[in-house]
Amino acid sequence: MLSAIDHIGVAVEDLDAALDLWCSTYNLAVSHRERVESQGVEAALLDVGISHIELLAPLGPDTAVGRFLQSRGPGIHHVAFRVSGIDTVLKDLAERGVELIDREPRRGIRESRVAFINPKSSGRVLVELVEPAEGH
Ligand code: CO
Repeated sequence: MLSAIDHIGVAVEDLDAALDLWCSTYNLAVSHRERVESQGVEAALLDVGISHIELLAPLGPDTAVGRFLQSRGPGIHHVAFRVSGIDTVLKDLAERGVELIDREPRRGIRESRVAFINPKSSGRVLVELVEPAEGH
């Protein structure tokens, strides 16, 4: 069902400062940067082998990441697993009683299709499923 850890999402206050920190400390390259309105974030992907670190800065205080920063401060926000056939995976999880935040996939970074699972169903870890677009 899950084919890889696609990325670890990290909430940050300042995207440029976080990019400087992560790129200079670990010598990582930025592969993509995008405003994802549907998630209320400006995001950047740093390549780590076949996986990524996804830095997330909120577009405003009244967004999911904005509220996360207010209550917990910067740090790990979610774990994203790569899947193929995300519709089928979501249907299967729902049938087994897993609480979904997104019952239908929505558009994620780089034209991917994504859905979030309620942390109550995964030991208080926010899990994202990602079906990458063709070619990514
Ligand atoms: Co993510």
